[in-house]
Amino acid sequence: MANVVVVGAQWGDEGKGKIVDWLSERADVIARFQGGHNAGHTLVIDGQVYKLHALPSGVVRAGKLSVIGNGVVLDPWHLVSEIETLRAQGVTITPDTLMIAENTPLILPIHGELDRAREAAVSVAKIGTTGRGIGPAYEDKVGRRAVRVADLADDATLQARVDRALAHHDALRRGLGLEPVDRAALLDALRAVAPKILEYAAPVWKVLGEKRKAGRRILFEGAQGALLDIDFGTYPFVTSSNVIAGQAATGTGIGPGSVDFVLGIVKAYTTRVGEGPFPTELDDADGRRLGERGHEFGTTTGRQRRCGWFDAVLVRQTCATSGVNGIALTKLDVLDGFERLRICTGYELEGKRLDHLPTAADEQARCTPVYEEMPGWAESTEGARSWADLPANAIKYVRRVEELIDCPVALLSTSPEREDAILVTDPFAD
Ligand code: GDP
Ligand code: IMO
Ligand code: MG
Repeated sequence: MANVVVVGAQWGDEGKGKIVDWLSERADVIARFQGGHNAGHTLVIDGQVYKLHALPSGVVRAGKLSVIGNGVVLDPWHLVSEIETLRAQGVTITPDTLMIAENTPLILPIHGELDRAREAAVSVAKIGTTGRGIGPAYEDKVGRRAVRVADLADDATLQARVDRALAHHDALRRGLGLEPVDRAALLDALRAVAPKILEYAAPVWKVLGEKRKAGRRILFEGAQGALLDIDFGTYPFVTSSNVIAGQAATGTGIGPGSVDFVLGIVKAYTTRVGEGPFPTELDDADGRRLGERGHEFGTTTGRQRRCGWFDAVLVRQTCATSGVNGIALTKLDVLDGFERLRICTGYELEGKRLDHLPTAADEQARCTPVYEEMPGWAESTEGARSWADLPANAIKYVRRVEELIDCPVALLSTSPEREDAILVTDPFAD
C-alpha cells in the first residue's frame, strides 16, 4: 500500500499533469495539497487535450476519488466553471468523485484585484504572478481573516467572516486608490455559489485516514515547482505556498509517515514563467528552439516561457528539499536533433565555485553557470516506450542527469500523450 507524492522539481510546468494522469491508473485517490488555479496541468488522451487548473488530474479517470485539500486556495467561481468545461468534454464529476476540504480558504474577487493592482504598481519590482489572487488569499489565511468553505453553510458566520476580511481589505484598498469593497455584492455572489461548492465539502483529513487504513492508494498531486516554494524557492520571485513534498501532509491532514515515495517531475531542460533569476536561461537560437519544439507557452496565462539548459545544481537541491526518491524525466524528445547539449554542473560567483544556489536574491542573479557539454542525437525519441527505442546518446544524457542530481530516473516521458512513457521503477510498488 504505497502512497506517492508528485512534486515539480524546477519552476513548474515540468509535465506533472501528464505523469499524475499516467500514475492515477494505479491510484484510488488523487489529492491536490497546495496552490490554486495558478496551476495549469495538461493531459493529452488519444489526441484530446484536457487543461486542469484547480481540479486534480485524476478527475478524468472514472472510478477515482479526486480531493482538493486544505492546503489549496480555492476560487469557487472558477471551480464551478472548470467543472462545467470538463463536463462538456465528457468527464463525470459528482460528489462521489470530488471532495473539497471544509477548511479550504477561498479566493475572493478582491484577491485577484489586489494581486493585479500590486503587479501594476510601478514602485516595486513585479513578480510576474498569474494575477489570480493566490498571494493575497494565502495572506488572508495566515492573517486569520479568510472565508473558508465551511463558512458558506451559515449566513451569519459568512457575514462575520466577510466583515473581518473587509476591515483589512478596505484599509488596504484606500492606500492603493481602489474603491471600497461592495459588501452586499460580494455576499450575494458567495451565497449564489455556496450550494455549488458545499455539495462537495467533506472532512478530507478523516476520509483520507479511512482510505489509508483500508489500503487504498493515494496520489498527492503537487502544483508549481520546488523553485517557486515560499521557503526554498527563488524568493521573492515565488508563489505563496509551500510546494515541496512535506506540504502533502499538512495540505491534506494526513501524517508525514503516510508518504512512501516522492516522485520529482523534471523537465530534460529548464523553463520558467514570470520574473526572477534563471542562471541557465538562453537568449539565442538554442533557447528559441527549445521553446518552439517544447511549445513552451503557459497553460494558465498563455505567456511565453523562458527556456534554458538543464540545471543539475538546482534539481539536486530540490530533490534534497523534497526528499525525492526517484524522478520522472519529461520532454526528452524536445532535445532531439540538437548537435550538442549543455548541463549546468555548478556556478561561479565572484571567482568562487558554488555547488548550490545561494539564498540571497542578488547573489542568485549574479551566479554564472558552469557547463559540461554532451553530444546530442539526430534520431527521434518521440513516443518511445522502451529503452531499446532510445539512441545511445540519449541514454548517456539520462544517465549523466541521474549522476549529477544524485537521484535515479523512475519514469521517462517522451511525448504529451498519456501512454508515451518508459517505466523504470513503479513508485506504487510496495
Ligand atoms: P505541469 O504544469 O507540470 O502539469 O505541465 P504543463 O501541462 O503546464 O506543461 C507541460 C507541457 O508539456 C504540456 O503541454 C504537456 O502536454 C507537455 N508534455 C508533457 N510531457 C511531455 C513529453 O514527454 N514530451 C513532450 N513533447 N511534451 C510533453
Ligand atoms: P504549474 O502547476 C509555472 C509562477 C508565476 C509567477 C510566480 C507567482 O502549472 O506548474 P502566483 O500567481 O502563484 O502568485 O505567481 O509563480 N507560477 C507558475 N509557473 N507553473 C505554475 O504552475 C505556476 N504557478 C505559479 O508565473 O512567476
Ligand atoms: Mg503548468
